[in-house]
Amino acid sequence: MSESMAGLKRTHTCGELDASAVGNTVTLMGWVHRRRDHGGVVFIDLRDRYGVTQAVFKPENEELMEKARQLKQEFVVALTGTVEARPDDMINRDLKTGGIEVHVNTLRILNESRTPPFVIEDEAQALEDLRFKYRYLDLRNQVLKENIILRHRAMTAAREHLDSLDFLEIETPLLVKRTPEGARDFMVPSRLNPGKFYALPQSPQLYKQILMVSGFDRYFQLARCMRDEDLRADRQPEHTQIDLEMSFIAEEDVYAVVEGLMKHIWKKAIDVDVEIPFQRMTYAESMARYGTDKPDLRFALEIQEITDIVAASTSDMLKGAAAKGGAFAIGSVEGAALSRKNVDALEEAAKKLGAVGLARGKLAADGTSTGIFRFFDEESQAKLREMFGLDKDGLVLIVAGDRETSLKSLGAVRLKLAEMCKLVPEGKFRFVWITEFPLFEWDPALEAWTPAHHMFSMPLESDMDFLESDPGRVRARLYDLALNGVELGSGSIRNHVRSIQERVMKVIGLDEKEAERRFGFLLEAFGYGAPPHGGIALGMDRIAMVLAGKDNIRDFIAFPKTTSGASLMDDCPSAVDDRDLKDLYIKIDLPRKD
Ligand code: AMO
Repeated sequence: MSESMAGLKRTHTCGELDASAVGNTVTLMGWVHRRRDHGGVVFIDLRDRYGVTQAVFKPENEELMEKARQLKQEFVVALTGTVEARPDDMINRDLKTGGIEVHVNTLRILNESRTPPFVIEDEAQALEDLRFKYRYLDLRNQVLKENIILRHRAMTAAREHLDSLDFLEIETPLLVKRTPEGARDFMVPSRLNPGKFYALPQSPQLYKQILMVSGFDRYFQLARCMRDEDLRADRQPEHTQIDLEMSFIAEEDVYAVVEGLMKHIWKKAIDVDVEIPFQRMTYAESMARYGTDKPDLRFALEIQEITDIVAASTSDMLKGAAAKGGAFAIGSVEGAALSRKNVDALEEAAKKLGAVGLARGKLAADGTSTGIFRFFDEESQAKLREMFGLDKDGLVLIVAGDRETSLKSLGAVRLKLAEMCKLVPEGKFRFVWITEFPLFEWDPALEAWTPAHHMFSMPLESDMDFLESDPGRVRARLYDLALNGVELGSGSIRNHVRSIQERVMKVIGLDEKEAERRFGFLLEAFGYGAPPHGGIALGMDRIAMVLAGKDNIRDFIAFPKTTSGASLMDDCPSAVDDRDLKDLYIKIDLPRKD
């Protein structure tokens, strides 16, 4: 059955009626969330984007009752009736509409629904695959709906703020030449140019730099970016960036714009006052204190280097490992209560990042100790207690070995320990700028230097002399914005000087021909008066996720992909017809499955 809406007009949403509307005649339209039959009376919870309103069908009108009894979950209905106050014992104080109900005199069934494969409820219980297949039903639940609305508010606030600062929103192409972000490109074959391919942009990087050459000195875009990389909870093959670029500026200008932008977004989206300016920390300091370049500063648990103390111990095992780089530790009073199983789980986290093991022991307030500390004399134990502020019994965890591996492993242990001991406060936002990243990374597989971020970042003036002699030592004018352990954004002051670009290209083994082939158009544009410029891109999906205090970006994207990059709702990616492939001169050559 499906009836027409003709003559009926929606007067209110399902989320707005309250006691002030009692006595009014209203028309609501929406989905049947739930039907209950109670002593001859039928109750319907009617749902739309805005909320739920209770509708009541009384037995006096036999024909209407009959129709109400046909209603099933997710039927689409229009109803007209009068707003009445609910009896005192039926009031739901958690809902704006919880004090009223609509006594229905007209009901139209606008459309029926098949029985949904899962019940639409806020705390979705169904398996994620099923929810993804029926994403349109999943999006009917209030929690996901709120996420999408939150994201909209954040995006609107971003546009509003950047517009107020004279930034222009300029769209860059989706069919592009390779962009230099370092992930794999999604490729698109060109029918009109057989054998040739476009790439989908990993970011608008080169185009936004060219816009600076054109003189659009303040550009931004809510840019869709596509990267063919392995997915995780905070990564999707398509994501959106608040991408911006500015001319005639230095780091301070970018920081000021982004801090104002974040403040505005947080205020508009969740009414939280963010404190600015944000803390700053160099990459080297962040690695040394937190074992990561995106530290979660909501809790302390700082890493300390204890190479000297280990050297004075009698543990040959630790001393041997420390000789390969150093010894590092974290200590915590709360950790003292952890079970052996929990500490073993911490060791697993450390090993995942390459640590050989996690030495452990307890330092008690009464001066006694256990575990690894039987190899440490009293003076060393006292030093450690002081170092970690252990005024009560405390747990100390040590990783020794290669410096970077040890720090990273301990960084992972730090996060897990904080989670286990519930040291992470909710509703707190700790932004931090991480600065002075290395310009190059050593790629052991390629046995070559590669750009750590991308190759158009300006080296630090003070490190310029090491470009040829010691590339690993060269830091760049690169910065990341981290928040609560999440990398929200990253950017740099760009290298607009041809002679310095040539030196950088030499380091990464990019000869002139190859550079010409990949970035020739940018280099050529730079030849016509490129202004000093720089910018940043902030992950929009991640911003929405952090605003809501969650850790899965899929819940903030209307139509996300699974971890294997599939969209289950429309079954993509999928095979294409031979005829289509032929038009593109493409043959599929899959490896044989033996
Ligand atoms: P970068 O590659 O660091 O920099 O990306 C910027 C920000 O975009 C977000 N992000 C992602 N979010 C979800 N899924 C992904 N797969 C994903 N990849 C990145 C992150 C990240 O910090 N062109 C440079 C920016 C610049 O230099 O101006 C760039 O794209 O939040």
